[in-house]
Amino acid sequence: MPTPTSEQRYLDLIKQTLCYRLWPEPARPVDPDQVGNRLKRWALRQLRRVLKRRNMQIVRSPQVSAQARDEGRIWPGLADTMIGLRRLDNLQQCLESVLRDRIPGDLIETGVWRGGASIFMRAVLAAHAVTDRRVYVADSFRGLPPPDTTRYPADAGDDLHTYAELAVDRATVEANFAKYGLLDQQVVFVEGWFADTLPALPVREFALIRLDGDMYGSTMDALRALYPKLAVGGYCIIDDYALPGCRRAVEDFRHQNGIVEPLQEIDWTGVYWRRRAEPEDTAI
Ligand SMILES: C[S@@+](CC[C@H](N)C(=O)[O-])C[C@H]1O[C@@H](n2cnc3c(N)ncnc32)[C@H](O)[C@@H]1O
Repeated sequence: MPTPTSEQRYLDLIKQTLCYRLWPEPARPVDPDQVGNRLKRWALRQLRRVLKRRNMQIVRSPQVSAQARDEGRIWPGLADTMIGLRRLDNLQQCLESVLRDRIPGDLIETGVWRGGASIFMRAVLAAHAVTDRRVYVADSFRGLPPPDTTRYPADAGDDLHTYAELAVDRATVEANFAKYGLLDQQVVFVEGWFADTLPALPVREFALIRLDGDMYGSTMDALRALYPKLAVGGYCIIDDYALPGCRRAVEDFRHQNGIVEPLQEIDWTGVYWRRRAEPEDTAI
């Protein structure tokens, strides 16, 4: 095996750190409202009040396997990304291929949560001393939108907007970039709902678009606004193909736009494809 370069070592360490893989999954505070019976709920609330005065809290150790963490199957307590190692590896491979093949354009992630995957994109640029590409970091920074069933009936009944854990404010994400020394002018925050922000984005071309908005509408809004700007040879990565709404949006968009490049599987939920030249673009 060849000795890894310092760039490879740096990126490996960053991936492990972003996944919080060097440390055990932390214990989580116990929410009395989640406890089954009324008497226990009451007792826990009293105990919690007493402990709080002493700066203590009731926590429970999560039963999570190393495999589930690596595969990005949990909402982690402290990790800066929930996508797991396989999907970070895929992101690195796609980015390095774009750099090697000189595919023009910037990079974007739509749906960043604590920022981990976007931080990693900036780290790959830093590792390869790339200074002429930007990483666009697009999110509401307040969680997912309630379903807009007039535009997207497929999202009916989706309750992801009710999860406070999925709402991470912009200051926290900026601070996360800064923790890794990667917050600079090559990082551009795009704050707001995708339907409002993405169509107006002043970017000519993307080399890689990474979509992680979970819902039909969030995936479709991102595909419609960004895919036409994806360079030939660029990558379209979908994080949530295991979610029925996202999967349907990808299938509908590909069908409506005659996209025939085969979907490549990354892991149990991630897929991607590389954009090929349209037949009429191909020089003879
Ligand atoms: C599953 S999390 C993303 C995980 C992240 N990529 C990571 O590395 O861990 C989904 C994110 O998408 C954002 N989101 C989903 N739909 C959105 C929309 N329509 N407009 C803006 N943000 C949206 C949420 O705020 C949330 O931060």
